[in-house]
Amino acid sequence: MTPRDHISVAAPATVANLTVGFDCLGLALERPLERLDLKRTDTPGVTISAILGHDGLPMDPARNVSGKAAQSVLQTLGVSWGVALTIHKAVLPGSGIGSSAASAASAAFGVAALAGAELKPHELLPLALDGEQIASGARHADNVAPALFGGLCLCTPDGRIDHLPAPDWHLTVVHPQTVIKTAQARAVLPYHVPMKDALHQMAQLGHFVHCCHTGDAMEAAFALQDVLAEPHRIPLQPHFNEVQAAAMNAGARAGGISGSGPSSYWISFDNDTAKAIGQAISTVFLQEGMDHHVHVGKIAAQGARIIEA
Ligand code: HSE
Repeated sequence: MTPRDHISVAAPATVANLTVGFDCLGLALERPLERLDLKRTDTPGVTISAILGHDGLPMDPARNVSGKAAQSVLQTLGVSWGVALTIHKAVLPGSGIGSSAASAASAAFGVAALAGAELKPHELLPLALDGEQIASGARHADNVAPALFGGLCLCTPDGRIDHLPAPDWHLTVVHPQTVIKTAQARAVLPYHVPMKDALHQMAQLGHFVHCCHTGDAMEAAFALQDVLAEPHRIPLQPHFNEVQAAAMNAGARAGGISGSGPSSYWISFDNDTAKAIGQAISTVFLQEGMDHHVHVGKIAAQGARIIEA
């Protein structure tokens, strides 16, 4: 890659956990996409020039997800120059569709692209996770890996990423305009789980991975069950039972909480049904007077990318 003076990159929103794989599965969405503009500076280090689209995020690079990921890449590359960031927040914090991961992935990918450095996935991922950790307090890669690399990713706690063949699903993601912090949604989880639940979850995840490899998209959807995390988090989600009933009545075959919520994701097998699911959930939220955004699309093969050089 050629080094540049300025560049614009984007990284996608993501759905983590996919119900069956708490902290180890995640997929990239086609939209929303988060944009980051990067400009090379003579002064070493990271400067945040502006954060557009959302108020209240830290301008101090060491406390900002994008800033921290950018600092880690600059340090790893050992360059003498610095970078100024203009962050366009399109994936909103506390949405459950990988806001911090989109920021961390776009910054890590963007600084490497600005430098013309071809970092390998296993080199880039931990640098992006340095940013993600600021927001969630943990180094789970289930949002960051698909935000960086696209597709459907299986991530192990020791940092290995396996790309799974993505099931041919249509996805409806609905984001009610309320905030659930990941740290808050992690605090409600039990520290220990019964052996029978661990065994059940292991078998379900194994079955899901098998279905991805055999290309059985319907059976992969039916494998999406969780006895470990989701039951503890449902009480935090706005109107989850009504949303689930509306989605299933409109033709969803499976779904659940996206990441730690409040967004939810629902699976169907054609675009018309995916849109109908969005409308049915919209009706629930409109009745409750709750603003929300609906995103309909497929699993995106592409993760972080250059959009303007
Ligand atoms: N796996 C993480 C969690 C994702 O569920 O806490 C957070 O978006």
